[in-house]
Amino acid sequence: MKTQYNKLFVYFIASTAAMGGLLFGFDTGVISGAIPYFQPYFGIDDSVVESITTAGLAGAIIGALFCGRITDMLGRRIVILASAVIFAVGALWSGLAASPAQLIAARLFLGIAIGVSSFAVPLYIAEISPARIRGRLVSLFQLMVTIGIFVSYLSDLFFADNANPDCWRPMFYIGVVPAVILFTGMWFLPETPCWLLLKGREDESRRTLSRIEGPDMAETSLAQTKARIAQDREQSGWREIFKPWLRNALIIAIGVMFFQQSVGINTIMYYCPKIFLMAGFADNISAIWASVGVGIVNVVFTIVALSFVDRLGRRRLYFLGMSGIFVSLICLAMCFAFNQYLGDAGKWLSIITVFLYIIFFAASIGPLGWLIITEIFPLKVRGLGSSIGSLSVWVFNSIVAFTFFKIVKAFTLPGSEIIVQGESTGNPAGAFLFYAFIALVGIIWGYFYIPETKGIPLEKIEKHWLEGGSPRKLKND
Ligand code: BGC
Repeated sequence: MKTQYNKLFVYFIASTAAMGGLLFGFDTGVISGAIPYFQPYFGIDDSVVESITTAGLAGAIIGALFCGRITDMLGRRIVILASAVIFAVGALWSGLAASPAQLIAARLFLGIAIGVSSFAVPLYIAEISPARIRGRLVSLFQLMVTIGIFVSYLSDLFFADNANPDCWRPMFYIGVVPAVILFTGMWFLPETPCWLLLKGREDESRRTLSRIEGPDMAETSLAQTKARIAQDREQSGWREIFKPWLRNALIIAIGVMFFQQSVGINTIMYYCPKIFLMAGFADNISAIWASVGVGIVNVVFTIVALSFVDRLGRRRLYFLGMSGIFVSLICLAMCFAFNQYLGDAGKWLSIITVFLYIIFFAASIGPLGWLIITEIFPLKVRGLGSSIGSLSVWVFNSIVAFTFFKIVKAFTLPGSEIIVQGESTGNPAGAFLFYAFIALVGIIWGYFYIPETKGIPLEKIEKHWLEGGSPRKLKND
């Protein structure tokens, strides 16, 4: 039966959700263009910069960790509204920071909203959208994250001004705008029918479902949701998810996010202009321009991945992407290793290899990671399983962000240091070789653990785990 739904209302939901994704991406990317300005402003070294970046991630871990329970207690809508307020206050606080310690506190606070929105917004969309377009709307959220990163690079570029040492402040302030849009939009949206039912508010749930799907479909959806809630109550999620039959699913969720983060994607996302300065760009503004290029390539190839993922399949896309990541990281390492001999060409070669690296990431393990964690768990533990996956993202992301400059320093051969704006910094060649090695391990790991879930009904995946099948043997026959 073809499901009817209220298009206008659903699109309103989608655009509001888009703001949640956009904010997540914006606050991921904004720091990169601000670093070259607030670092000299405060006169801080790379390790303090790492702490400022990592503070946001630590906040995201706190947000993702507690958000599951709070969204169940207070409702999805209230939590998203609260996150919009935190986004706005965090943006203002970051811009107003009078010391590095205040900036750390502000980023930690704002990070909570990033962690909350990365979990609560897709959950809200998934629960409120009609089944027929649920997949599309949830993946739209991923695309919006990359658009948010791109927008943040653009606004960094807009405010970047070498003559104004305070120019990093408005880069942060501007984050208030999408937060206000998210808050205002969310204010007019209802709570999800699923949560309302969970709280015994059946009439309200029916009313919301009627607005979304029309009165006829509302009764069917209501009955289905009731059945699902009853099934979920039979099993305790935490006890179930650690049972041996789900061990492989858990390893895949944590493993795929480990490799997604440990190939170093966010060293580029957060420190991109800084890396381009190391590669030989003379001033902050041209380095931020190069980052805008990275932002565009990221969005475009995420769109490409969305169209390929159901055609090429997960495994093929994974191996193709990870091999490309491996090769481009080796090339990037070479560009830096031979920096002194390559002269101006080194600068352009390193830009090209960073672009190639982003292309392979955006078209494979970037979106694949998020997709796979929603596919491999049976319904009764799907929410919990995917929240373990997103929590893993933040944990591994923090580790990588916090250790990048330390790894750069540790792996710099004497004599290979690079001079950036008159100061000697480490050489990232060794760090990129290290990430290349992780990509290689990821390819081998993937051979055993990446499942081909393309076109396979989710119940069949559950049956495969119950029968003790290995991830590699999952087939649609
Ligand atoms: C990752 C983020 C990353 C983004 C870049 C996502 O898949 O989870 O950590 O910043 O891709 O586009």
